[in-house]
Amino acid sequence: MPVLAATPENVALAAECLKAGGIVAFPTESVYGLGAIVWDARAVARVFEAKRRPSFDPLIVHVLGLEMLDEVAAELPPAAALLAERFWPGPLTLVLPKRPAVPSLVTAGLETVAVRMPSHPVARALIEAAGAPIAAPSANPFGALSPTRAQHVARLLGDAVDIILDGGPTEHGIESTIIGFTPRPTLLRPGAIPLEDLSSVIPSSPSVILSLSKDERPTAPGQLPHHYAPRTPLRVANLAEVPPAQRARAGALALREAPAGYGAVRVLSPAGDLREAAARLFDALHELDALGLERIYAEPIEERGLGLAIADRLARAQAAG
Ligand code: TXA
Ligand code: MG
Repeated sequence: MPVLAATPENVALAAECLKAGGIVAFPTESVYGLGAIVWDARAVARVFEAKRRPSFDPLIVHVLGLEMLDEVAAELPPAAALLAERFWPGPLTLVLPKRPAVPSLVTAGLETVAVRMPSHPVARALIEAAGAPIAAPSANPFGALSPTRAQHVARLLGDAVDIILDGGPTEHGIESTIIGFTPRPTLLRPGAIPLEDLSSVIPSSPSVILSLSKDERPTAPGQLPHHYAPRTPLRVANLAEVPPAQRARAGALALREAPAGYGAVRVLSPAGDLREAAARLFDALHELDALGLERIYAEPIEERGLGLAIADRLARAQAAG
């Protein structure tokens, strides 16, 4: 499991590895992915195995441009085309009707395929050198925290991966936003692009993106309530209300200000900037998780803008423990 700096030579090496049926972890602008060439069902099966991921959880296919998109998706609905034009390349995933050639293991037997066009130069160089779309879930064991650094991948997946390309910490630090079309644009997973930004691009009704309440919102297949969890039990709680006696052996994940009395504290963004907070979220949770604390208390985040995705990840982490 060599961790290689993402130099052009090593990206070329990683592409050769993919072409030979290997699996490669690589940086994207959202989180690190664990990739296989989409047409290679055996390699895709190794990705599932390495992550201990159930086969009902479909993967996201990463493409370089519209030509490659056409190899995997049969159709681009008008609303999807608008979103693609505005937000690709970037951390937006669109669920589209699939081409028959996409192995059903990739899509968990669904007639749709989740696709995104990443903006990260290393991800793009890798897809280009491999000459094929790359199917890649986040490079973490199923249900665990997503990796925002190459070291997270090395620690979590280790020898199960052939090569880890190190491109430094990821920019957004949180997974892509997933939109389905059934046929109305529907939020399936809040993520790095705020819902408000997506809605502003689509002409109003009947094509508005459905911003449903949490209970009504359909979830993407495989998105279990206990996804994205650290091993340490996590509770979303007002940090000032946690009894002082419980603080010493607990960690606090705060948005702006460090609370007193906790064994360890991580502040996501002293300026209260949600972009910075999202980028720090998994990193801070990985750090707190490594300290052997009894519990992690996370400050509730308002569900607006990127706060929706952050609150979603915290709620899932809480459901796990
Ligand atoms: O930012 C990201 O999206 C990262 C980077 C690596 O691109 N990838 C990522 O993949 O988060 P993963 O496997 O952790 O999440 C993919 C999720 C699946 O769990 C499922 O919820 C949804 O995408 N998905 C995939 N295919 C789908 C489909 N055909 N229909 C609906 N949802 C789908
Ligand atoms: Mg994941």
